[in-house]
Amino acid sequence: NPQPVYLSEYQSPAFEVEDLELDFDLAAATTEVTTRMAVRRNPQAAEPGAPLRLYGDGVELVSLTVDGAEPGEGMLEEDADGLLLHGLPEAARLEIVSRCHPEQNTALEGLYASSGNLCTQCEPEGFRRITFFPDRPDVLTTYRVRLEADRAQYPVLLANGNRVEAGELDGGRHYAVWEDPFLKPSYLFALVAGDLACQRDTFTTMSGREVQLELYVEAHNADRCDHALASLKRAMRYDEEAFGREYDLDVYMIVAVDDFNMGAMENKGLNLFNAKYVLASPDTATDDDFVAIESVIAHEYFHNWSGNRVTCRDWFQLSLKEGLTVFRDQEFTTDCTLYGVKRIDDVSLLRAHQFPEDAGPLAHPVRPDHYAEINNFYTLTVYEKGAELIRMLRTLIGRETFRRGLDVYFERFDGQAVTTDDFVAVMAEVSGRDLTAFKRWYTQAGTPHVTAATAQDGSTGEFRISLGQYTPPTPGQEHKEPVVIPVRVAMLDDDGRRIRGRLEGGPEQDEWVLELDRSERSFHFDELSATPRAVSWLRGFSAPVILEANQSATTLAHLLAHDDDAFSRWEAAQTLMRRAIRARIEDDAADSVLEAEIQHALAALLEDPAIEPVLLATILQLPPPRELAELFDCVDPVRLRAERDALEARLYAPLADRLRERQPKLDDIDNGAFTADAMGQRRLRNRLLALRVAAGDESAVPEVLEQYRKARSQTMRMGALNAINDLNHEARALLLADFERRYHDDPLVLDKYFGLQAASQVSGGFDRLEYLLQHPGFRWSNPNRVRAVLGPFMARNERHFHQADGEGYHRIAGFVEKLDRMNPQTAARLVQPLTRWRKVDPARGEQMRAELERLAALEISRDLRDVIERALADA
Ligand code: ARG
Ligand code: ZN
Repeated sequence: NPQPVYLSEYQSPAFEVEDLELDFDLAAATTEVTTRMAVRRNPQAAEPGAPLRLYGDGVELVSLTVDGAEPGEGMLEEDADGLLLHGLPEAARLEIVSRCHPEQNTALEGLYASSGNLCTQCEPEGFRRITFFPDRPDVLTTYRVRLEADRAQYPVLLANGNRVEAGELDGGRHYAVWEDPFLKPSYLFALVAGDLACQRDTFTTMSGREVQLELYVEAHNADRCDHALASLKRAMRYDEEAFGREYDLDVYMIVAVDDFNMGAMENKGLNLFNAKYVLASPDTATDDDFVAIESVIAHEYFHNWSGNRVTCRDWFQLSLKEGLTVFRDQEFTTDCTLYGVKRIDDVSLLRAHQFPEDAGPLAHPVRPDHYAEINNFYTLTVYEKGAELIRMLRTLIGRETFRRGLDVYFERFDGQAVTTDDFVAVMAEVSGRDLTAFKRWYTQAGTPHVTAATAQDGSTGEFRISLGQYTPPTPGQEHKEPVVIPVRVAMLDDDGRRIRGRLEGGPEQDEWVLELDRSERSFHFDELSATPRAVSWLRGFSAPVILEANQSATTLAHLLAHDDDAFSRWEAAQTLMRRAIRARIEDDAADSVLEAEIQHALAALLEDPAIEPVLLATILQLPPPRELAELFDCVDPVRLRAERDALEARLYAPLADRLRERQPKLDDIDNGAFTADAMGQRRLRNRLLALRVAAGDESAVPEVLEQYRKARSQTMRMGALNAINDLNHEARALLLADFERRYHDDPLVLDKYFGLQAASQVSGGFDRLEYLLQHPGFRWSNPNRVRAVLGPFMARNERHFHQADGEGYHRIAGFVEKLDRMNPQTAARLVQPLTRWRKVDPARGEQMRAELERLAALEISRDLRDVIERALADA
């Protein structure tokens, strides 16, 4: 069994590293690394005579000297985690020569080969696969790195910081020396050696320094770099304007890599990116891809302060940098790109992915207190819920105070490795508030449920809001304490205008943040300017909770028609639709009165000339099955999907004409413009077209064909394909065949084809799956390909993944087993849908569980075992 590490056992390192030199003799088969470091006993260390721990994972030790001499008898101990050096003096110089094998590294952690280039991924514990080192985030030092390699094969040699030297060597070899003046932990180390084209630009910082921007890609992708470079410049400007953060080195490099486990990595001055989050042209990438690229580019850039200049003391603090940086990138996208619906898109992501995680066997706090494999904690909870905690802090202490707090945080902890407690302490200090209770959000797992009720006293004009909270138990946390929940509310009158009034005798306002800081609490309002017709709850989704407000359908329709908060308006429609699905599943009958009311409200919305296209498109969408499943203790997923689709058809069939009338014209919008307005129009057209097809409007099919043929952008092409992807119609086969022909040698676009085929509800899903896995464009060694096929198959192809005989589960378990031998991290993610076995009907749950048991009995990686064991605990 994987042995867990506990936060409570944290000890500061026994030694500090004063400086570090790494010499790489690079080759794909075997790379030799010479590591020279000066170490000195850490005065803060708990144990005075403790040995120096040098982690190493699969690295071959060639030689080691201490102050130029072989270590004495009993000094050097080798164990499963690497090396221990006993009896070191106060200060010593170490020189270690070691070897690793990039070409054989299919785990894509440490130094590995991708498309003939060499690159690294060190976060969280990959550096120890490159050389022996105190590979922990609280050991910070300066790096001088010398790279030497064959010039023809690896003309480009990159590492962190500034290039201080380069030159030719005998035998067709060359070298480069890089120095990074900033203190950093080993997880931020990176190198790249390869044959890459460079796209350049420059950025002048707010203090007037010119920074060279360099984007490295394979030569044939050189024409797909403009968007990434433009995004980078927008992000750099935004961080200065919104957060006062300036870039610090003279060069900022980004390298696109084909084989990459995650999205991207913020290595100091040398970001490595999954090519998917760099390369884009209107012909190959959709608007959503453009937005995602901009957001990941910004995310990694923002890490330069929230992560690199101020880093994490240990990996329990991961959300210190990830939650904060996600918050920062969400703000950027909101302000620069998507305006109103960015928040809704983020809430959807949270509900469809983080809420289920928080309600399942893998639930863990934003700051976990133990883990068996840290790679399994790069989760929606640490990232997205972590960002929600930051946003709640800002709501509670106010925007200006929060901004001041961030300045203090960056200033005070610059060059240090700190904790989430340190972060909250700064916010408490600047705001003068006691945030002790708020910190429960970091330590307690599970999504709180909030109940809300109102009472009106007609004679006195007094209005009361009562709120209550409850968090269900999660693994290892039976009993939950109340958390501090900011509930932003407004009240609307009969005309949909905001009502003014006073809360507990406070100033007159028309919007309030109610702080629910115990199990139950009431809030009294008086001098209201009108009688409330509807309360707009949790505006802007002010807290990551599940709200139960029991509003009538008429009240929800009123909010849907008038609410000026985009989230709450969307939420009104979502609540109505959730209620309709619930009626179908629980009572086994459609609630026709409710459905008629929903339809009426949607019809009115379609007539509303004032609503923004992108908001309209977003509101019309029914909640995804994954999110709906959370409404039930357990549910037959095939039936849930069918009921959802049937509701969609019932609601929209009578509205087909209005949907068509509201559709923007293809020629007016298919212009490749990356603006909020243009993207909104395209989202609306694609959504309406898809809804018409789903509603059985036959006249929509020829329009889909026409849109596909005339499309000048990938957004409109994919819009057409998505619209008919579940339709058993020859048009579907025709278009998909054309798409495959067109993009068969363009991996990132081919992934879209894989996704469509894998997700389709059209019968024959297992044959299609087999076809895709045998496709010349498919490779098990590439995480993007694997995820493109298996991700949508599990997430959106209920009919096949959840086929009643268990075939889907069996196949997936087989793929997980195969993949685990190559890439444990990706296998441990791929298996996760099977861990939700308690949430499906018992017959299916039993089959899923049996597949997990079968895997658990095999020799599998620590990554995979950790996930499976948590999923099977108490089973
Ligand atoms: N720090 C990176 C980011 O969020 C993610 C790297 C995670 N890598 C991993 N192998 N778990 O930007
Ligand atoms: Zn990050």
